Amino acid sequence: MIRKWWKEAIGYQIYPRSYLDTNHDGIGDIRGIIDKLDYIESLNVNLVWISPFYPSPLDDNGYDISDFKGVDPQLGTLEEVKELIEKAHAKGIRIILDCVLNQSSDEHPWFIESRSSKNNEKRDYYIWAQGKDNQPPNNWGSFFGESAWKYDKLTDEYYLKIFSDKMPDLNWSNPTLRQEMADIIRFWLDLGIDGFRMDAIAHLGKDMTLTDSTLESDERGIAYDWSKFSNRPQLFDYLQELHQKVFSHYDIVTIGEVGGGAKFPEGYKYTNPQNPSIDMVFNFDHTWHNMPYGYEVLTPEKFNTNVIALKEDLDYWIQNSQKHNIHPPMYWLNHDHPRVLSQYGSLDYHRESGSMLGMVLLSLPGTPFIYNGEEIGMTNVDYTNPKDFKDVNTRNYFKNNAHRLTIEQMMNHMRYTGRDNGHTPMQWNANQHAGFSTTTPYLKLVSNYTTINVQDQENKEKSILNTYRTMAKIRKDNIQLFAYGTFELIDAKHPDLFIFKRQFNQEKYILIANFRDYEVPYQLPKYQEVTFHNYDNLANAKLRPYEAILLKES
Ligand code: NOJ
Ligand code: CA
Repeated sequence: MIRKWWKEAIGYQIYPRSYLDTNHDGIGDIRGIIDKLDYIESLNVNLVWISPFYPSPLDDNGYDISDFKGVDPQLGTLEEVKELIEKAHAKGIRIILDCVLNQSSDEHPWFIESRSSKNNEKRDYYIWAQGKDNQPPNNWGSFFGESAWKYDKLTDEYYLKIFSDKMPDLNWSNPTLRQEMADIIRFWLDLGIDGFRMDAIAHLGKDMTLTDSTLESDERGIAYDWSKFSNRPQLFDYLQELHQKVFSHYDIVTIGEVGGGAKFPEGYKYTNPQNPSIDMVFNFDHTWHNMPYGYEVLTPEKFNTNVIALKEDLDYWIQNSQKHNIHPPMYWLNHDHPRVLSQYGSLDYHRESGSMLGMVLLSLPGTPFIYNGEEIGMTNVDYTNPKDFKDVNTRNYFKNNAHRLTIEQMMNHMRYTGRDNGHTPMQWNANQHAGFSTTTPYLKLVSNYTTINVQDQENKEKSILNTYRTMAKIRKDNIQLFAYGTFELIDAKHPDLFIFKRQFNQEKYILIANFRDYEVPYQLPKYQEVTFHNYDNLANAKLRPYEAILLKES
């Protein structure tokens, strides 16, 4: 095990549009993050990941970028970003940015040139192909639920776009394009940032033969076959090249968003220390364990957390990472997921379940990332009008209604799974607009901000907020154990409890957590010291709803 600062960090992801609005336009901004640096420091985190703030037509929440080296004027200026980096560094907080390499916006100057004619010098920065009988070049489907191709009548060809129509995929098989992207990365590193979360990194390599998928197609002739553009061999050459030319010259961290499907050994290929490319990969496996499919009629059983499967997935990634001497990032949610409180916790046991989830996250191996608002147990939306949802994925879902659900059925789905759940404005206090802004926010607030907010939890000892703070402090004070120590599941097949042991040299901790909203019989092991507990006292032979205890063997 080689010690590195990023292996010992505690991360905090900020979604800048929804954090704090300081210039009264209803949109969070860079200045808002600067103003909240004392708060961020008070969480005992020291690595902040900021979601995209680049200029963007906002078809996909800023992941559709029209200037890779700029700052969206709605959010601030490059000077403010520099100020943020300096002020964060002065507090010992490092900053990483989202690095979006797979696609640009269709309003990016490169794409405007590329589409203008077949022999434009930027034509090959994107992936263009002729249609077949007035149909797309092949049957590939996109992640956002339509064909992966969009027809462009200017040159009578289709461009590849595995996300939305306004997000043409960049052609990584073109060395000039790769050079351009390396320059962009260098630009931000030279500004002083400490690394990147690398968006959609698994998709840079495509099956350039563009042959049809043999998977079954839907009634529109579309096959959703991610293998055509995920984890493909060329990708690893591109990443190793970036590492050699750029990353290896800086003391930074790179975390790839690799997501579903990549198991070991693929997960290992990304981070193999013998063949360096990037440092860590985010996988999604543990985030699905009560996520219904988009067409299912929702019933209460669908929401029941499969605790055994959740533990199995976390254990799979942790054990394999430790075996191969690589370091996993850990998280409950990011900006693509619904709120974990509404997923694995409970509104009826808000404080108990929110604090329990924080205790589990901050006791796991690896580098944990807290998503802004998680530290106060923010919840999914309570929207009643489909128009309240703004996310492109959700808009497509309502528009296509491929499963012929009623509006209310679709609303139920999106209130439970939609990405807007994680985008609502930060709930700072109970004042109008939750202290986020002095005007109506760009995205509707969740109405429970009057009771769920930072101010309310500030001075309550066992609030979710103070649990996250205390647990982060305990983690920091024992960082070798929590970051690198062994991880052992206890009673892996228990359907309700998540119990694990951490050990480093002679030191041992055990974390015991009840994932249910009811009491579960349980006899505490003979560990002597209660390090942290989300209830005030221990009960006899049982755990109460969402009770969690961190014990130390002394
Ligand atoms: C993954 C990002 O996390 C998501 O928000 C985005 O829609 C896609 N990549 C496309 O960039
Ligand atoms: Ca603003």
